[in-house]
Amino acid sequence: MPKVAVLPGDGIGPEIVAEAVRVLRVVAPDIELTEALVGGAAYDATGHPLPPETLELCKASDAVLLGAVGGPKWDVIPDPNLRPERGALLPLRKHLGLYANLRPAICYPALAAASSLKPELLEGGLDVLVVRELTGGMYFGLPKENDGNRAVDTCVYTKDEIVRIAHVGFQAAQKRGKKLCSVDKQNVLMTSVLWRATVEEVAKEYPDVQLSHLLVDNAAMQLVRWPKQFDVIVTENLFGDILSDQAAMLTGSLGMLPSASLGTGTFGLYEPCHGSAPDIAGKGIANPLATILSVAMLLRYSFGRETEAKRIETAVEAVLGAGLRTPDIAQSGEATVGTIAMAD
Ligand code: NAI
Ligand code: MG
Repeated sequence: MPKVAVLPGDGIGPEIVAEAVRVLRVVAPDIELTEALVGGAAYDATGHPLPPETLELCKASDAVLLGAVGGPKWDVIPDPNLRPERGALLPLRKHLGLYANLRPAICYPALAAASSLKPELLEGGLDVLVVRELTGGMYFGLPKENDGNRAVDTCVYTKDEIVRIAHVGFQAAQKRGKKLCSVDKQNVLMTSVLWRATVEEVAKEYPDVQLSHLLVDNAAMQLVRWPKQFDVIVTENLFGDILSDQAAMLTGSLGMLPSASLGTGTFGLYEPCHGSAPDIAGKGIANPLATILSVAMLLRYSFGRETEAKRIETAVEAVLGAGLRTPDIAQSGEATVGTIAMAD
């Protein structure tokens, strides 16, 4: 039986995860779901934001559905390694070997007014997927030093690391519009020279995908100038951190954005891009769609269940088309619904 670990977390986490789980039970009733504590909720109950039994459950599952962790209540924990984000999210990614972060930036025609882009750039909707390498590059390279006068960061990539993320990019493109744009800075960075050559090599295995390359500064420009030219973008850790936030905000709706973090095989962790939104927690008004769309990604990437994934995405499009809005995606004057009614 396929197994999914469900970690609701803190703030609006439990509210939105409950609704996403309700959708998952309807669409894929055969999947076994097991809940566990994570984040501040886990810290309060056990003294640790990622208790060993939660990690064990995740490792024994085929995929993880996560809400969000953190909040002001836990920012004051004296040991920063026991705070929810550092103590739960980072170790979770590391222990589960998640090296690829997938963030779709989809602008639904019904929500075009929330975007900062001109309407003509969004005609017919927008759907870009950013694939970011998560475990290498500048964030983890050594040495890392700062003596007060001179500071050093080191950017390191191995060929193996580039090969495996390139495969994720090509395979994602195969499932979508069959176009992959690899982003680097090969005119000045050695890691980018290796990156580009390696992506070219991997491309030979995917003759059905059209590959292009862009330097990162140009990619940033093109994303705002004409975002529809992109289908899938694959890039290294630092560039991906920035470009995925930039692409996401083209849509203007944090409450709508899902994400997937993939490891080897089909294992993955799925979560909304937003945080625990303590300002609206407990009010029943959080937008559950980012988490519901994360369930669609879970079905697609961990279980290969494209039909069920599409059913969810089509339903989301339909409710938006029918005018249902939680407060975060409503224009002024528009009637709104709560978390549960949106999921209904
Ligand atoms: P946030 O994403 O939680 O909230 C930013 C703003 O967007 C807030 O006004 C919030 O009400 C709104 N918002 C977010 N999600 C929404 C939704 N589904 N429906 C309606 N409105 C929504 O980011 P913020 O405020 O910077 O962080 C709050 C807490 O969340 C912090 O403790 C932070 O550390 C944590 N966090 C956790 C993440 C995770 O678990 N992956 C990611 C980002 C932040
Ligand atoms: Mg970021």
